[in-house]
Amino acid sequence: MDPQSCRKADSSNIWHHLTRHTGRPGPVMARGEGLRLWDLDGREYLDATSGGVWCVNVGYGRREIASRVAEQLALMPYYVGSAGNVPAAQFSERLLRHAPGHSRLYFSSSGSEANEKAYKMARLLWAVRGAGDGGAPGGGPVILYRDRDYHGTTLGALSSTGQEERRAGFGPFLPGFAEVPRAFCYRCAFGLSRASCGLRCAAAVDEAVAREGPGRIAGAVFETVTAGGGVIPPPEGYLPEVARILRGHGIPLILDEVVTGMGRTGRMFAFEHYGVTPDIVTLAKGVASAYMPISVTLTTEGVFRALQEGEGPFSYFRDISTYGGSAGAAAAADENLAIIEREGLVGRAGEMGAALLDALRDALGHPNVGDVRGLGLLCGADLVESRETREPLAEAKAAAVVARMAELGVLAGRTNRSIPGGNSVINFAPAYTVTREDIAVIRGAFLRALGDVLGG
Ligand SMILES: Cc1ncc(COP(=O)(O)O)c(C=O)c1O
Repeated sequence: MDPQSCRKADSSNIWHHLTRHTGRPGPVMARGEGLRLWDLDGREYLDATSGGVWCVNVGYGRREIASRVAEQLALMPYYVGSAGNVPAAQFSERLLRHAPGHSRLYFSSSGSEANEKAYKMARLLWAVRGAGDGGAPGGGPVILYRDRDYHGTTLGALSSTGQEERRAGFGPFLPGFAEVPRAFCYRCAFGLSRASCGLRCAAAVDEAVAREGPGRIAGAVFETVTAGGGVIPPPEGYLPEVARILRGHGIPLILDEVVTGMGRTGRMFAFEHYGVTPDIVTLAKGVASAYMPISVTLTTEGVFRALQEGEGPFSYFRDISTYGGSAGAAAAADENLAIIEREGLVGRAGEMGAALLDALRDALGHPNVGDVRGLGLLCGADLVESRETREPLAEAKAAAVVARMAELGVLAGRTNRSIPGGNSVINFAPAYTVTREDIAVIRGAFLRALGDVLGG
C-alpha cells in the first residue's frame, strides 16, 4: 500500500483507541529500531514510552523474537490451553527461576484478562472455602481495590478501577468491589504528611476490611506502583503493612504488575522492592515486550492447590482464554525473557532508571513542575498550576507540553482521561536499552517543551 492510500485508509477506517476524531489525524507508525520510531512520513521519534503504554521493553527491531515466533508459527501456531505446548513450558521454567514464591502460570492475552482471571480465582477460592454459600451478611464476596489504580478495560477490571473519568458512562459496574483510599504522599487523601501520618492510607485498608466484613473479602488488588493513575510508588512501609493486615484475615493479595512486572522498576517484579510476596501476580505488557499479545496470572502453589480441591463445579478452575493457548505468543515471551537475561536488562533498567529520574529532577526548577517521582524506568513529572497549592496543571496545557515534545522528536506519555482535574502527570518509560545519551535528549526536550509552552 502506498503511503498516501495508507494514511487515507487509516483516517477514514480506523477507530483509534482513546481518541476523539476531530482535527488533524495522528501519525501512522511504520518502523522501529531500538528506541527509535519512524512514521509513514519518515519522521523520526525517540520513543520514551516503550510503545505509548510502557510495553516494548526490549526495544523495537528484535529479530531474535521475530524469527523465533515465525519458526513456532510454522511448526505449530496454536492448540487449546487445556493441553500443553513446548514454548509455554520453556517460558514457564525461565520465568519461575525469577519468581521463587510462585509456581503456576495461567495464560491469557491481555492485562485486563489477566486481572479478570485473578478475580475469578479469588472469588472461587472464597466459594471453595465455604464462605460463598450466600449466608454472609450483605451477600457475596468483595474484592478491595484502590483509588487511582487501573486494572483494565473489561467491565470487571473497570469495576475495580479507581479512576472516575475512565469509568464515566460505562456503568452500572459489577457488585463485589469496594474502593480504598490512594497511597499517594504528594496528593494525600487525608491531607497528611509522611513524617507524621502513621501510614493512614494503610490503616484505611484495615477499616475497609472491618466495614465490609472480613469474611466477605475475597481478595485485595493493588498496582504495586500505580502507573497510569500518576506514576505513584507507594510510601515506604505501605505494602508490607497492607500485606500484614490481609494476611491476618487470610485475604489473598493480588498485585497487578501488568506495567511493572518483567523488570521495568529494576527488579523482575516491583514487589521485590517492598519485601512482600503476593498470592497472585498479573503480568502482561512486558511478558513478550508486546511482540505478541500474551499475559500471565501467576500464582503461588497454595492458590493452585486450593482450586484443585473443591467439590463439584468448585473442583477446578472452570475458565479458558482461547488465545492463552497461543504457542506463537509463548515463543515470543520465552525469547523476550532470554534477551532480558542475556543482556542483564533488569539491572540496566534500575541503573538507567536512577539516571532518568535524576535528569528529570532538573525540571523541578520550573515553576509548573510540582513533583518528579518514579521507580526504575517508570518515571513521572506532576505538573501543577502552582507549587504552593499543588493544583494540577490544566489538562490542555499538559497535553500541549507532550505535543511540543513530539514536535521536538521525543514521545512522552501523560495521564489522560483518568482522573477528573488530575490528568497532568507526564510519563517517561523508555525501553530498558535506553542510553545516557538518550536520557539527555529526553531531558532536553522536556525542559524545552516546558519553557516553550508554559514559559518560566
Ligand atoms: C496496571 C494495568 N493493569 C491492567 C491493564 C490492562 O491491560 P490491557 O490493556 O492489556 O488489557 C493496564 C493497561 O494499561 C495497566 O496499566
